[in-house]
Order: sequence, then structure tokens, then C-alpha cells
Amino acid sequence: MNREELNAVARFLVADGKGILAADESNGTANKRLKSVDVVETEENRREYRELLFRTKGLEQYISGVILYDETIWQKTADGEPLVKILQDKGIYPGIKVDTGAKDLALSPGEKVTEGLDGLRERLPEYRIMGARFAKWRAVITIGAGIPTDACINANAHSLARYAALCQEAGIVPIVEPETLMDGDHSLERCEAVTSRALKALFIALKDQKVALEGIVLKPNMVISGTGCAEQASVEDVANATLRCFRRHVPAAVPAIAFLSGGQSPKDATAHLSEMNKRGPLPWSLSFSYGRALQSDALQCWRGQKDKIEEAQETLLKRAQLCSAASLGEYSSYQG
Ligand code: 13P
Repeated sequence: MNREELNAVARFLVADGKGILAADESNGTANKRLKSVDVVETEENRREYRELLFRTKGLEQYISGVILYDETIWQKTADGEPLVKILQDKGIYPGIKVDTGAKDLALSPGEKVTEGLDGLRERLPEYRIMGARFAKWRAVITIGAGIPTDACINANAHSLARYAALCQEAGIVPIVEPETLMDGDHSLERCEAVTSRALKALFIALKDQKVALEGIVLKPNMVISGTGCAEQASVEDVANATLRCFRRHVPAAVPAIAFLSGGQSPKDATAHLSEMNKRGPLPWSLSFSYGRALQSDALQCWRGQKDKIEEAQETLLKRAQLCSAASLGEYSSYQG
């Protein structure tokens, strides 16, 4: 493990108002997204859509890295050019999702544990050769009656830490993603309490597994009201609660925090990020690693139509630019 190199890559991913585009939806999720805009769910259409995203002119002004799914890292354009090369030619780092998905946790109804450690040590060097400079593993924590249990929180923290150690051993920066879901009618306070438990367990596990905090990117949820909660917290309350939680639980040695959007609207995800950055200076760089918040308007615009490709790319670029402004604390909601 070369700590300096890992640290440099982690910093690069959130430097200068840049963030990460998460385009690593599994085939099942990617198909759902395509179906939602009446596009047939085929490998060719998944490739075409992602090629549209990656070819966006000027994307590299706001995006430092793109997270890919295994299928995409091997794919080529119709002209035979690897999709990865489109990114590399723009100076964007390719990353790879390496978990194999969240599965039901035994004896814990309603809870999940993420799998994918088996064979990971052998897969990582292959991804490195394909150009991956960083990786992603997402753990899912659900809030509900009597959950999350410590069993769920600890199992996921342990897996995230084992994954992170294997990545660092292979010279790949791990994006460590403990996602407490927005689904449910829980309050902002409950989200803060659960996010705190998840982060506390995570940093104990990372230390146990000897992971260098300087060489990770943390990808957390924001502290936010459940989607079904009658009282929705304001932008200011979300920023205050999220920063309070992180100051208590995320060591300053972590160079980069890149939030997931988790189902927030593009506007909310942008406004929340900007509000937090307005409260700087902060111990870590706070940026974005959004999937839906960056892609959803572009996807709606495209809907599989060839003559809409350019407009969809402009839509993506606009949201990326606003998220970039938010990562500097310079976004205002009137901007879109
Ligand atoms: P969302 O921003 O759509 O939550 O996706 C980010 C991600 O990578 C989830 O693992």
C-alpha cells in the first residue's frame, strides 16, 4: 500500500469543486431506470445511455471520477473504443463497484448485509489493469420498528472494513458507503441517531482492519427526515444535523466525504450540499457522488431518442455544474 498515492487519488476525487458521477447501477437497477423512460432493457441500450453520459462535452470541469458497473468496464462503443477510454481521455478517473449486492441478513427480518468479499482479492488487480483507480462498496441500513439491530450495523461495518483493506492492499482507493436509507416515516433526529451508530461502528471496524483513513473516500447519506415523515426538515436543519453528526463521528484524517443522493430530488441534494459547505471551514472536503440526482433529468430528457442526446448531455452538464458550485458553498436555489 502506498499511502501517499492513495491519499492523492482520494483528494483528486473531491478537488477544486469536483465530484463523482455514480453510474454503477446493477443491470437490474439500470433496467428499471431505462424502463421508466420506455427504453427497452438491453445490454446495448445500457451501453448507449452510459456512452451518452460519458461523452458529455466539458464533463471533466465538474466530474473527477465515474463509478462503473462490471458490465460497463468491459464495454466498447460501436466504433470499438472502450468506454473507459472516453473517461480517461477527459482526465476522469474510472472507478468500479465491487460489491455483489445487499442480501437478506440471516435471522434479522427486514435487514440487509452486503456481499462480495469472496474472490475480491483476485478481482481487484484485474480492475486495476482495466484502469480503475478507486472502488465502491455500498452497505444498506434500514430504519424501522426495532431496526437497525447491532447485528446489521456491525456486520455491514465489518464487511466495509474488510473490503477497504483489500482495496488499499491493491492500490485502489475504497469508497466506503454506509447508506442509512431515507425510506420510512422516521424523523430527522432518528436518522441522526442511526447514522451516528453506523459511523461509530464503521470507524471502529476500519481501525481494526488497519485501513489508512487518509486513503479512503467516505460516501454517506445526509441526515434527513424519512420520506414519509409528516415534518420535513429544512435545508438549514439538514445541514446542521449532518455536520453535527459527522463532527462527532468522522475523524479529520478522512480527506474526502462525497455524499450519495439517496432519492433526494436533484435540487434538494444540491441545496443541502451547498448549505453545509457555506458553514466551512470543515475538517474534510465535502462533495458529491450522486447517481439519481445527477442523472434523472438527463434520463428523462433522453428517453432513448437519438435527436435528444445533445440536450440530455447539456442537462447533465448543468446539474454537474450546480453540484460543483454546491461543493464550494456557492449554489442558490434560483439557479435551478
Ligand atoms: P444515488 O445518488 O442515486 O443514491 O446513488 C449513489 C450511489 O452510488 C448509491 O450506491
